[in-house]
Amino acid sequence: MKHLIGIEDLTNEEIDALIATAEDIIANPAKYAEVCHGKKLATLFYEPSTRTRLSFESAMMELGGNVIGFSEAQSSSAAKGESVADTAKVISCFADIMVMRHFKEGAPMVASLNSTIPVINAGDGGHNHPTQTLTDLLTIKREKGRLDNLTVGLCGDLKFGRTVHSLISAMARYKNIKFVLISPDELKIPDYIKQDVLEKNGIEYVETASLDGAMPELDILYMTRVQRERFFNEQDYIRLKDSYILTPEKLDSAKSDLAILHPLPRVNEISVAIDKDPRACYFRQVLNGKYIRMALIKYLLEVAR
Ligand code: CP
Repeated sequence: MKHLIGIEDLTNEEIDALIATAEDIIANPAKYAEVCHGKKLATLFYEPSTRTRLSFESAMMELGGNVIGFSEAQSSSAAKGESVADTAKVISCFADIMVMRHFKEGAPMVASLNSTIPVINAGDGGHNHPTQTLTDLLTIKREKGRLDNLTVGLCGDLKFGRTVHSLISAMARYKNIKFVLISPDELKIPDYIKQDVLEKNGIEYVETASLDGAMPELDILYMTRVQRERFFNEQDYIRLKDSYILTPEKLDSAKSDLAILHPLPRVNEISVAIDKDPRACYFRQVLNGKYIRMALIKYLLEVAR
């Protein structure tokens, strides 16, 4: 039995196979319509979500399976003090696979240690969000036709943005990747990512506060929201929240085949005027999230086609 807690739980071969399955699902959806018939997915969401929860639920339904779960901790027995470990044991009695989002870093790991069914981390605090990373990789592959030889700009809240941490770990495995880390000083990427992922693997990166300066060399621009819910001080959030706002004028110096990604939800960091630019990929990225999660559910449940 396999869990997905961090992107490091998947080998390069497994990631490539998941992307290939997702592309086959996109091309041949009817082939997959019943592969999870009789199976149940449980979604345990202790933190708000629109895309991740609903794309998992939609993915399971399109595979012919069923869905149970809760969308807020208050409607579960967590409100009465039940532990994550006990909840995982209970859900193992009802479902074949579970997806957990939790405000505490490490909660899905605790669930996996107490579960008899596969556990998928759907985001734990400011730590990891591996299925967003799979979504991002599928999107980059479909938009650029490759996952190597790319200059990737990551812009905004690189400190608390868990999607950025997982994406760097995943993209660092591919050849000739350069990262441009664009953030205010207070929201720089944590040292452990720089030391354990970038420097340890000899990956080229630069840190800058200037989106304008970085723009001309980027193949990918990954915008992120400033994570209000992770700030201790509202004043700091208000001061930093509009550090970067992508407007059409800022794209004047960008490559014509730039791919603009964002895990969403967005607040102010991408002007809605960008949405009609063909380089804006973020709503196609949302749809890719459903397909890659279909591929992942199928893989972890070990169901045959
Ligand atoms: N990208 C993402 O995780 O979105 P939700 O918070 O809506 O699930």
